[in-house]
Amino acid sequence: MSAPEPEEVSLFAAVGGEPTFRRLVDKFYEGVAQDPLLRPMYPEEDLGPAADRLTLFLMQYWGGPNTYSASRGHPRLRMRHAPFRVDPAARDAWLRHMREAVDSLGLAAPYHSALWDYLERAAYFMVNAMDNAEPTH
Ligand code: HEM
Repeated sequence: MSAPEPEEVSLFAAVGGEPTFRRLVDKFYEGVAQDPLLRPMYPEEDLGPAADRLTLFLMQYWGGPNTYSASRGHPRLRMRHAPFRVDPAARDAWLRHMREAVDSLGLAAPYHSALWDYLERAAYFMVNAMDNAEPTH
């Protein structure tokens, strides 16, 4: 049997599987825990369950096990963020912590940029409110 072609290996597997995604999200939530804008948005006192949901979602997205959907159903992430005010300031704070977390993994350049490009696009897509939104009339 021949070795698998590179494109047959998921990013999930290539970057080290679940332990890598756990490190990513744990680092991200260390930043969120200290963030005066983001921390109050999280309804639960304990950030652990939220960290677990994000970890499982990202693992699934990148080709790992489908545990996220098995327990939470279809992601429908924009809908799930509707209760939260995600304005550009919240997006930028989220991305700042995520950037630190991605950088901390020390991934090879192609994986680093694939992961980061996706997270940046996803965060822009999640915005559902403008800064200082006031009714105009
Ligand atoms: C742009 C700024 C963002 C903010 C301020 C934000 C904030 C939040 C908050 C407050 C929650 C609820 C915590 C919980 O109970 O899980 C949440 C959940 C979640 N977020 Fe975000 N989020 C952002 C972007 C993103 C992005 C870009 C992704 C994916 C790439 C994402 C993935 C998730 C997931 C998977 C959940 C759990 C959904 C569930 O199963 O209930 N978020 N987010």
